[in-house]
Amino acid sequence: MDNNKLSEVQREIFKLKDEKHWPIIPYDVANAIIAEVRAHNCKNSLELGGCVGCSALNFLSGMGDEGKLTTIEATPERAKILRENVIRAGVADKITVLEGDAKTLLPTLTGPFDCVFIDAMKREYLAYLLAIEPQLQSGCLILADNVQSHASKMQDFLEYMQNSPEYETHIKTLGGGLLLAVKI
Ligand SMILES: C[S@@+](CC[C@H](N)C(=O)[O-])C[C@H]1O[C@@H](n2cnc3c(N)ncnc32)[C@H](O)[C@@H]1O
Repeated sequence: MDNNKLSEVQREIFKLKDEKHWPIIPYDVANAIIAEVRAHNCKNSLELGGCVGCSALNFLSGMGDEGKLTTIEATPERAKILRENVIRAGVADKITVLEGDAKTLLPTLTGPFDCVFIDAMKREYLAYLLAIEPQLQSGCLILADNVQSHASKMQDFLEYMQNSPEYETHIKTLGGGLLLAVKI
């Protein structure tokens, strides 16, 4: 994997993000994701809400050469650009792009995944988690973006994560708020 190529594609995404209205994670959240994925030694991650591939490339940076990511994006134009960016970054053998609604696709996936990053429709976070939970083993890292900025839309998810004995959960005040949880 050529990290210079990953950075180059990410720089291009950042240059275009305002003009194209791509809602991608800010730098501080990106850096936190890289650090957490590295610290937990994640190698088979799942992303819900791939947009055009910025955070997907962060995942690869964190996981290193042995890492694999499956990313789901519902908007066809974004999924197309995401596929192109994955190819341009030279990581088509490491990132699987699935186009469609995560709620429909999740029950068809075969895990186990060691990290799940939830960053799609804010009101649906709990539905995504419940759909993928059977594929998550002990030690799995759950990351969820915008849990402070969009808290009112995901009260059910936040209550589930904070009250469930299955997860150790905390929230970092970065960007719109990043939830980190480890499945016990
Ligand atoms: C905040 S953006 C993701 C940004 C991306 N994680 C990044 O930082 O590079 C959310 C994305 O989720 C997609 N999305 C919304 N609902 C979805 C669903 N039900 N299934 C899959 N993707 C969905 C949107 O089209 C949008 O591109």
